[in-house]
Order: sequence, then C-alpha cells, then structure tokens
Amino acid sequence: MSTSTQRTSDIRTVTIELDAREVDWEFAPGRMIRGFGYNGQVPGPLIEANVGDTIEVRLTSNLPQTTTIHWHGIRVPAEMDGTEAVQPAVEPGQTFDYRFVVPDAGTFWYHSHTNETEQLERGLYGALVVRDAGGPGFDAERVLLLDDLKLDPDGEVAPFGDEHEHHAGREGDVRLVNGRQEPELEIAGGTIERWRVVNAANTRFVRLSIGGRSFAVIGTDGGLLREPLQTTEVLVTPGERVDLAVGPFEAGEELAVEALPYDRGKGEREREAFATLRVAPAAASQAKIPSALREIEPLVPPDAEPTRTIDLKALMHAGHHQRADPVRVGDLQVWDLVNETGQDHPFHLHGFFFQVLQEEGKPPPVLAWKDTVNVPRKSRTRIAWLPDNRPGEWMYHCHILEHHAMGMMAHFAVVP
Ligand code: C2O
Ligand code: CU
Repeated sequence: MSTSTQRTSDIRTVTIELDAREVDWEFAPGRMIRGFGYNGQVPGPLIEANVGDTIEVRLTSNLPQTTTIHWHGIRVPAEMDGTEAVQPAVEPGQTFDYRFVVPDAGTFWYHSHTNETEQLERGLYGALVVRDAGGPGFDAERVLLLDDLKLDPDGEVAPFGDEHEHHAGREGDVRLVNGRQEPELEIAGGTIERWRVVNAANTRFVRLSIGGRSFAVIGTDGGLLREPLQTTEVLVTPGERVDLAVGPFEAGEELAVEALPYDRGKGEREREAFATLRVAPAAASQAKIPSALREIEPLVPPDAEPTRTIDLKALMHAGHHQRADPVRVGDLQVWDLVNETGQDHPFHLHGFFFQVLQEEGKPPPVLAWKDTVNVPRKSRTRIAWLPDNRPGEWMYHCHILEHHAMGMMAHFAVVP
C-alpha cells in the first residue's frame, strides 16, 4: 500500500493506490474468513484530506470478479462516480484511475459499486474523512465503521442471494466495528472525542446507544449541523453517517456501544452489542464544542411544493435499469419519497446533498445536509436539492444492498 501527500503551495494532492484482492480476514481472534479487502485489510485504508485537495486513486483489481469504487457522499464529477453507468467495471488484472477534488468537509466512505451485496459483505469499503480549518476541537477522534457478517454453519461467509435476502435484506449475527467483532474500545476519562460513525452494513439498521448516556450529534452525511443535538440514541441506517461528541466519562466506567431494538418492518430485534467502551484514567481535556457549528441556509421554504414524487413501492417492483426524468442544472428539486411498502428504505442520492423538509409532514429536528435518508414504512419524506453544475449520469437507490441489487434504483441525467 502507498499513500502519499504532496503539497504544492496551497493545493495538495493525496495519492493512494487501492489494490482490491482476496484476503484472509481475521474478524475475531482465531476466526478467519475469506474476504475481499483493499490493500489486504478490512476496512480499507482511511483516506484523509483537507477541503479543496485533489484525491488521486489508482484502483487495481486482483479480485476474481470485476469491481468499481463509489465515493459515497463526495460531490465528484459524474465520470468519477464509480457506477457502471459512467465507467466500465475493472477486470481482474486491470486498473482504473479516479481523480477528483473534495469540496466538502465531512465523514464520507468509499465502497465497491459492483456486485455490492457480496463485495461489501466481504469487506470492500473504507472511510474517507475530509477536514477543514477551524471547527470544534476535540481531545481525540476516531472512525467507527459498523457492519455485520452472515456466516454459514461452517463459519464461512454464507452464500448470497437467497429469496429471503432479496426481500428482507442480508443481516448476520456477527457485529463488527472496523472489521472486528465486538471490540473493546478505550477512552480517557474526562475527555470528549469526535466519533465519525459510518453504517457500512448491507442491511442492518443501528439505533446507536452508548451505555444509555447522553451524547451530541454534531454532524451527518454532509458535514456539521447548525448546532449540536443532545440525545441518548441515534438511528444510523445503511449508508448514513453521524458525527458525535462522546464523553466525558468517569475513569473505570464500562459502557456498551450497542444497537437498541428497532423495527424496520421485519420485526423488532433485541438490543445488540457492537463494542465495549472502557474508560481509562482521566486525562486533561481541551475539547471545545461551540453551540453554533456552522450556517446552513434552507434551500426552499418548508412548505415548498414537490416537483416530483418517487413511489418507492413501484421502484421496488419495477426491476432493473429504470430511467427517471432528467433534471436541469440549477433547477431546484423537491422530491416526495413515498413509501407504501411494509419496510423502511434508506434512500441514497448519488453525487448531491439534499435537505429533508418534512418527515410525515413535520420538519426534522435539525436542518442538515444529507445524501441518505431513511424513509420509514408507510410514510412520506420530502427532500430538496439543487443540481449544481455537474451534468452527467447519476442515480438513486435504496441502500439496503439487496434491494438495490433487486432493482430498487433509477438512473437519471443531470443536463446542462
Ligand atoms: Cu453507497 Cu450507490 O452507494
Ligand atoms: Cu430498501
């Protein structure tokens, strides 16, 4: 693996080689499965950059199948989006060069966009963090990629694509943080950390709790919120990210990082452990989290009329390669996402951030930039977004990867 950063005056280029190949993935001590990894690791290397940097990635595929990389949440040019609508999938032994500027600060991630149900389950994903100057100061920062694994009775990755999975998605009993089963994490007493949480699971929803204690949500898919939102739990559905201010805790405490019961339409699950957080001896804290994090201007008034309705039920049943109407650069979009199905669907728009205007007719608790939003079953969510000047082929889909694979998606063009 090689990651290098070059600085030429103020413009930096972050250069990375990502080699996708099979890997013996030790997800727990002594427990190994055949995975797919970038540079031999799961998750793939953390990519870090500053706003305005150029990222150059050479992807080499040494997998037994073709692959591509999608830069989830990054406002890339259409040709760099990593879908098979904009590039040929990379054949074994071949390479593809991605090159784009990162215009926004936030917690993003990259993942395969070819045969996703298998390639993400086997480990082809990683985090991409973009920073800008200023912003809240923390004592420490960590990235937590949440995932799960479905194994067969022999402890190997269970076969893909049975009928049940098509409909209900794929969930496994092994719960992972950064590629390890229920790890132990440590935080110094008295300190406040920034946790960048990514849900990289195929299907599993995570209603995240940290020992039932209070924490602040400070950011989501598209960066910081206007102000911190104090809570004891936050729902993170596949594809979504949240940035949290966690702590301070007392030395000696032990807290369960877990998912609380949530019913996404497939019955309520028990609470489920993801990690244990141990509080180490106290350290001095310098953390400063301002009460105003950044300005976010509403794109449209909250009662803006929809310009388009997307019927998720029709989308789910329509099959592959649907095309939605094009949108024009600069034309404000107000989309009603209507979910008449019996399960929740996390809706992901490629390449552009949106604002949620209404959930079941009510404005969300905070204004935020999102690229993925859960649309609960039998409900309606209204979003607004502005196609900026990046014409080309784009798409949206359900981020339950089995639903996406089944065809719960549509391509559309942004036209000049
Ligand atoms: Cu993260 Cu098309 O997806
Ligand atoms: Cu779905």
